[in-house]
Amino acid sequence: MTEPKRTFALGAYLTGSATNGDAWRAPGEDVDADITFARYRDYVDLLEQGRFDSIFLYDNVLPVPDPAAVADTPALPRWDTFTLLAALAVTSRHIGLIGTASTSFNEPYNIARRVASLDRLSGGRAGWNVVTATGGGENFNLPRHPDHADRYERAHEFVDVVTGLWDSIAPGALLRDKRSGRWLDPALVRPLNHKGRFFSVAGPLNAPPPVQRRPVLAQAGASGPGRDLAARIGEVIYTAEYDPAAGRAYRADVLDRAARHGRGEAHLRILPGLAPFVGESDDDARAKFETYLRYLDHGDSLRGLSAYASLGVDLSAWPRDRPIELGEVAETNSHKSRQSLIVDWIRRDRPTPRDVLRHFTRGGHRIIVGTAREIADDIEGWYRTGAADGFNIMFTSAPDGIRDFVRLAVPELQRRGLLRTDYTGRTLRENLGLPDPATP
Ligand SMILES: Cc1cc2nc3c(=O)[nH]c(=O)nc-3n(C[C@H](O)[C@H](O)[C@H](O)COP(=O)(O)O)c2cc1C
Repeated sequence: MTEPKRTFALGAYLTGSATNGDAWRAPGEDVDADITFARYRDYVDLLEQGRFDSIFLYDNVLPVPDPAAVADTPALPRWDTFTLLAALAVTSRHIGLIGTASTSFNEPYNIARRVASLDRLSGGRAGWNVVTATGGGENFNLPRHPDHADRYERAHEFVDVVTGLWDSIAPGALLRDKRSGRWLDPALVRPLNHKGRFFSVAGPLNAPPPVQRRPVLAQAGASGPGRDLAARIGEVIYTAEYDPAAGRAYRADVLDRAARHGRGEAHLRILPGLAPFVGESDDDARAKFETYLRYLDHGDSLRGLSAYASLGVDLSAWPRDRPIELGEVAETNSHKSRQSLIVDWIRRDRPTPRDVLRHFTRGGHRIIVGTAREIADDIEGWYRTGAADGFNIMFTSAPDGIRDFVRLAVPELQRRGLLRTDYTGRTLRENLGLPDPATP
C-alpha cells in the first residue's frame, strides 16, 4: 500500500435550517430548506457535480429563553442532523455526509450506532463532527452548560468508547452461513467492557459494521483542550482563520500536538471556513456581495457575532462607522477560539462595525468576494503555503450561491490540479485520502 499523503480537501457547510442564513430575504433565496427535503437533495446534487468531498451539517440545540431574539433569523427550526443525512445517503452517490453530535448530551453507544448505520446506508460515506457543544445543557437535565475542561475530558472518553464499539465487530465476523447454521464467528466479536470516569459500556455494538470500519471523525475545537482533542482524534478539522499567517500558526500548532500522538499531515485535513461571493467579473461578484449586505439584518448579525464571540459588548449598539474599542474581555466558557480570533483582529485593525460585516459572517468566518480566478488564487495560496489543507465553503446563498461556486470556481480549482475532476474513492475516507485508523 502506498503511504497516504496530504491532499486538497473541499467541504460544504450547510446549516440544518435555511442554508443561506442571514440574508434569507434576498431575491431567489430558498426559505423552506428547514422543512423541504428536496432543497437539500438539490444542493447535494449540485455539490456532487462540483466534486466536493463532503457536506457538513452544523448542529446545536440551544435553549431559546426569548423567542423574540430569533424572530428575524432562520436559526430555528433545525433538522435532526443524522435523520437528514440518512435521507441524503439515499439520494446521493459519492459525497461524504458529516453530521454533528455532541459528546455532552449524548451517550456514546447511541452515537456509535447512529453513525455506523449512516455509514452502511451510504456505502461508507459517514463522518461525525465531534463537538462538546457551545451550549444547551438546559435541554438535557443539566442546570447549566457543563464546564469547558469537563466537557473535553468527557469528549476524549466518549470518542474512545465510540471507536472501541466500531471495532467491536471485526471484519469477517458475520458469516450468515445457512449450511453450518453459524450466523457469526464469536472469535471476531469483542465486547468492550469499558469502565471510565464518565461511561460504563459493555458492548459489543449492535449495529451494521461500518463500511469504512471507522467513519471519519471531524472536530473543530480551537482552545488548548479543543486543539488537543482535534490533534488526537480529528481527521477533518474545521477552524475559522482570517489570514494565512494565522492559518499557518494554527495548522502548525495542531500538527505539533498531533505528532505527540504519532499522527501527521497524512492523518488530518485542516479546513478553515470561507464564505465566497463569486462572479463572472469583479463587478458581478461585488454586486452579489452588495445584495447580500443589503438584505443582511445588520443589527441582528452584529448582535449574533458579538454573542458568538463573547465580546462583552454588543456591536449592534456601536455607531456603524466608529472604530470599535474593546475593554477587558472576560474569557468565555463557550467559543474560546472564536473569541480570541475576533478580539485580536479588532485590537489590531481597529475596524468599525461596518468593516466587521464586510469581513466576517455572523459565525465569524472569512468572506471573500471576486472572480473564480481570484478566489482560486486565494485558496491555492493558503493550501500551498501550509495555511490550510482545503476549505469548508460556507454558502451565504442557496441555491444560487452554491450554483455559482460549482459553475465558476470549481472548474478553476480543477484546472489548477487542486480539486478532483471525478471521485476516485468509494468511501469518504478514500476520497479524502485518509489512512484507515482501525486496529486489526
Ligand atoms: C466550522 C465550525 C463548525 C462548528 N460546528 C459546531 C457545531 O455544529 N456545534 C457546536 O456545538 N459547535 C460547533 N463548532 C464549535 C466547536 O465545536 C468549538 O466549540 C469551537 O470551535 C470553540 O472551540 P473550543 O471549544 O475549543 O473553545 C464549530 C466550529 C467551527 C469552526
